[in-house]
Amino acid sequence: MLQKQLEIIRNITDFEPEIAIVLGSGLGGFADKVDIVKTIDYSEIEGLKTSTAPGHKGRFIFGRTDDKNVVLMQGRLHLYEGYKPQEIAAPVRLMRLLGAKKLILTNAAGGINKSFNVGDFMLISDHISSFVPSPLIGANDDALGERFPDMSNAYDKELQAIIKKTAYSNDIPLKSGVYCQLSGPQFETPAEIRMLSALGADACGMSTAIEAIAAVHCGFKVCGISLITNLACGILDNPLSGEEVIETAAKVAPTFEKLIIETVKAI
Ligand code: HPA
Repeated sequence: MLQKQLEIIRNITDFEPEIAIVLGSGLGGFADKVDIVKTIDYSEIEGLKTSTAPGHKGRFIFGRTDDKNVVLMQGRLHLYEGYKPQEIAAPVRLMRLLGAKKLILTNAAGGINKSFNVGDFMLISDHISSFVPSPLIGANDDALGERFPDMSNAYDKELQAIIKKTAYSNDIPLKSGVYCQLSGPQFETPAEIRMLSALGADACGMSTAIEAIAAVHCGFKVCGISLITNLACGILDNPLSGEEVIETAAKVAPTFEKLIIETVKAI
């Protein structure tokens, strides 16, 4: 299936990306920062699922930024859309097969760590994926990666150091912490957030860990940045909403885009 999908893309473009970037909720506007060479809707690629989430366009964008070839996922796939982990992994694997070696994952997340504020950026130092199924369940594709991949450096330490340095030199405050993926689409209960806090999670959301696992498996160097769009349920008294997530993301998107552009330059 992947080889056939790769062939479909290769019949449209011979573009060779170096860096792959997954744009999270409210962050799709980053595509405007790229000199676009080609866009391919996921729906043009037989067997690939398409994005149904609000603000997720569902297409690959191939382009250049600061003389680097990048491929963007403008819109990702989520478990709560009814997709299987393997289906969520497919576009990530395709970007690797197209030649990308480094992957930047971004997302909107709820802040669990009490020192976090709305609008903060959190460098993902590690993740907890234990509440969602692995994209590696089932027969292993040995051509893609090994059966039992090591996850001890899932979020590449060198890339983390580069992002920290980039944020510092551009005066962009950057927190760091552990991201926990849940299936959604409901937000968490206060009891669940207390549990996640006890387990060592600093932020939570409905994406990213599944993609990171698939990416590590197929040999990507991975890094990730969460945008804290709200404080997680029960940290404050107010109810959560999807609109709040998109609104906050839109407010800080320019700074976020700067952080990503400068990171791409630096790696
Ligand atoms: N919980 C889960 N996913 C999220 C949140 C949250 O609080 N904010 C943004 N995505």
